[in-house]
Amino acid sequence: MEAKANQVQLHDKFFVPFIDRATITARVAALGKVISADYAGKKPLFIAVLNGSFMFAADLFRAVTIDAEISFIKLASYKGMSSSGSVITAIGLEEKVAGRHVILLEDIIDTGKTLHQFLPEILARNPASMRIASFLVKPEALVHHVLADYTGFEIANEFVVGYGLDYDGLGRNLPELYRVVTQ
Ligand code: IMP
Ligand code: MG
Repeated sequence: MEAKANQVQLHDKFFVPFIDRATITARVAALGKVISADYAGKKPLFIAVLNGSFMFAADLFRAVTIDAEISFIKLASYKGMSSSGSVITAIGLEEKVAGRHVILLEDIIDTGKTLHQFLPEILARNPASMRIASFLVKPEALVHHVLADYTGFEIANEFVVGYGLDYDGLGRNLPELYRVVTQ
């Protein structure tokens, strides 16, 4: 099968435009404004979860107008000995979290499993406060009780790529959001 006009093919799947650049830009700028107001005088520490959040983090951080810091972490999952199966741990999480107002930046909260497993690791470092900003949230897919304090867009339970999000490594460079075509 060939990609139709407007469609993008990544590996074996086809994707169509979903949320355009102007809409994304406006929404992320608005989030930056709200966060700047909420955190005035608090010098928040943004912690962006790589890889997926890198574009969201770059645009959001540019929209922040107060003193703020940003740091990047990567999550590694490994098979633990516990009954719960895999364990997620953060690479690059520094000690400086203690006493800071942390805002965790995620690309998407799907089932919430990733954050549910990883949040205790941040909280154990005693931040002054901890909030989550997620570019996307799929409320229908949520299994674990993880709520974003700041959400870019709530979307239906369908697979999306672009603006940092990938399908098996591809699609992160698409400047707008695409959703999968299901036939
Ligand atoms: P969760 O642990 O189920 O909340 O899933 C979080 C991770 O799954 C995200 O950080 C993404 O890497 C990946 N993910 C979930 N849904 C999508 C999607 O629609 N497109 C691309 N990646 C996704
Ligand atoms: Mg991710």
